[in-house]
Amino acid sequence: MRAKAVVVMAAGKGTRMRSRQTKVLHSVAGRPLIHYPVAQALALGAERVVLVLGHQREAVEASVRAAFPDAPIEVAVQAEQLGTAHAVLCARDALSDFAGDVFILSGDVPTLRDETLQALDERAGDAPVAVLGMRLAEPAAYGRFVRQEGALAAIVEARDCSPSQLAIDEVNAGIYRVDAGFLFETLAAVGSDNAQGEFYLTDLVAAAAAQGVAVRDLVLEGDAALELHGVNDRQDLAAAEARIQARLRAHWLAAGVTMQSPDSVTLGHRVQLAPDVVLEPDVSLLGDTAIGEGAWIERGVRIQDSQVGAGSRILGHSYLESAQVGAGCQVGPFARLREGTVLCEGVKVGNFVETKKTELGKGAKASHLSYLGDALVGPGANIGAGTITCNYDGVNKHRTVIGAGAFIGSDTQLVAPVTVGDGAYVGAGSTITEPVPADGLALSRVRQRVIEGWAARQRARMSKKKEG
Ligand code: UD1
Ligand code: CA
Repeated sequence: MRAKAVVVMAAGKGTRMRSRQTKVLHSVAGRPLIHYPVAQALALGAERVVLVLGHQREAVEASVRAAFPDAPIEVAVQAEQLGTAHAVLCARDALSDFAGDVFILSGDVPTLRDETLQALDERAGDAPVAVLGMRLAEPAAYGRFVRQEGALAAIVEARDCSPSQLAIDEVNAGIYRVDAGFLFETLAAVGSDNAQGEFYLTDLVAAAAAQGVAVRDLVLEGDAALELHGVNDRQDLAAAEARIQARLRAHWLAAGVTMQSPDSVTLGHRVQLAPDVVLEPDVSLLGDTAIGEGAWIERGVRIQDSQVGAGSRILGHSYLESAQVGAGCQVGPFARLREGTVLCEGVKVGNFVETKKTELGKGAKASHLSYLGDALVGPGANIGAGTITCNYDGVNKHRTVIGAGAFIGSDTQLVAPVTVGDGAYVGAGSTITEPVPADGLALSRVRQRVIEGWAARQRARMSKKKEG
C-alpha cells in the first residue's frame, strides 16, 4: 500500500459568506467546516495532514488542534491567496520528504463521504493523477471537464471557457489524488495566464495529458453528486446542514430511535442515542450529549453537553446545558438545568425550576418554581414551591447544603452559606440564615396577628370621608 497524505486548502476568506468569521469556521451540525476534511483525512488513513491556512489562521488552527489533539496535523501558511495551485505549493515544504499519494481536499466540502474518497482512490489505481467530478444540470461556475477520446485532457475554469466548453455538464469537484513527486514538480511550472490571473491547480490535468501521464476521474451523478457541493455562501451552508442532519437522523433511526417528526429534530454530530429513545418534534440535541435507553424527550426540548439516563422523561420546552440527569428522572416542563447540575436516580424537577452547580440526591423533588444554585440536596428531600437559594452576596457565591429527607416549605429563602440537617423541616415562608439541626424545625416568619372586623371598619371610614 502506498502512503497517503492529505492537503486541505482552506486559506480563502469566503467573501460570499458575508461574515466577520472566516468561512471554514462556520459550522454544520455544530462542527466547524474545517473539521470535516480533517476527519475525512484520518478516516482515509492519511499519515500526514497539511492544512493550508490564510485568513484567521490562528483561530482555524486552534479549533482543529482542540478537536484532533493527537492527529498528525501540520499547518502551511498561505498569506496571500494566489490560487489553488499556489495553495498546494505552500504545503510542499511540509511534504518534502513524503513519497506516496497526496489527496487534495477543500476546507468547504463537509458532505463528502469517506466512501467516495475511497472510491476515488480505487478508481485512481496506479495513475499519478485522479480527479473527482460531478455531472450537473446547471454547471454554473465550476471548472469543466474537457475530454479527449474519453480521457480527461484538461479542466477549464468557467471564466476561461469557450461557449462550447461552457455547455459541458461534467465539472470539477475540486478533490484530487496526485502522486507527490508529480504534483510538486508540475505545480512549480504552472502559470497564471488566465481570466483571473491566478495559479490554477486544475492546470495539472492538462500538464499531465501533455506528458502522456495517466489521468483518471470519478464522476458522481444525480443526487449522489450533492455530497460534492461546496459551501460558498449561506444558502450552501443551509443546504449542507440539511444534508448532514438527514444523515445523522437516518443513522439514529436505524439504531432504534423513534422520531415523531424527524425533519424538525436537530442533532449535533457527537450526540449519542440509545435504542428506544423517543424524540418528539422540535427537539435539539447538541454538543456532547448522550441519551440513555428508553428516555423520552418531549417537544421543544434543547439539550446541550448533557447526559440523560435510561427511562428518564424530559418534558416539553426544558433547557439542559452541561447537566447530568440520572435514570428514571422527570424534568420539566419548562425546567432549566444549567452547568454543573447533577440529578441522581428518580429525581423530579418540575416546571419553572432553575438549577446550577447543584446536585439533587436520589428521589429528591423540586416540583415547582425554584432557583437552586450551588446547592447539595440530600436523597429524598422535598423542596417546596418558590424555594430560592440566595447563593450570591454580590461578590461571592456560597453553598447551601440540605440533608437527606429534609422538607423545605414553600417560599423559603435559604441565605447561603447555610445548612439544613437530615430530616429537618423548614416552615413555609421562612428566611433561613442559621444552620437548621437534623430533625429540627426552623420557622423564621413573623407570627400572624388577626384584628377582628378591621376591614369592615376601614371601609366605613373611607365611605364617610367620601361623603364629607
Ligand atoms: C475550484 C476549481 C474548480 C472547481 C471548484 C470546485 C481551481 C482553479 N478551480 O474553483 O475547477 O470546479 O473549485 O469547488 O482550482 N483556496 C486557498 N488558497 C487560494 C485559493 C483557494 O486556500 O489561493 C481554497 C479556498 O479557501 C477553498 C478552495 O481552495 O477552500 C477552493 O477555492 P475556490 O476559490 O472556492 O475555488 P473555485 O473558484 O470554486
Ligand atoms: Ca469553491
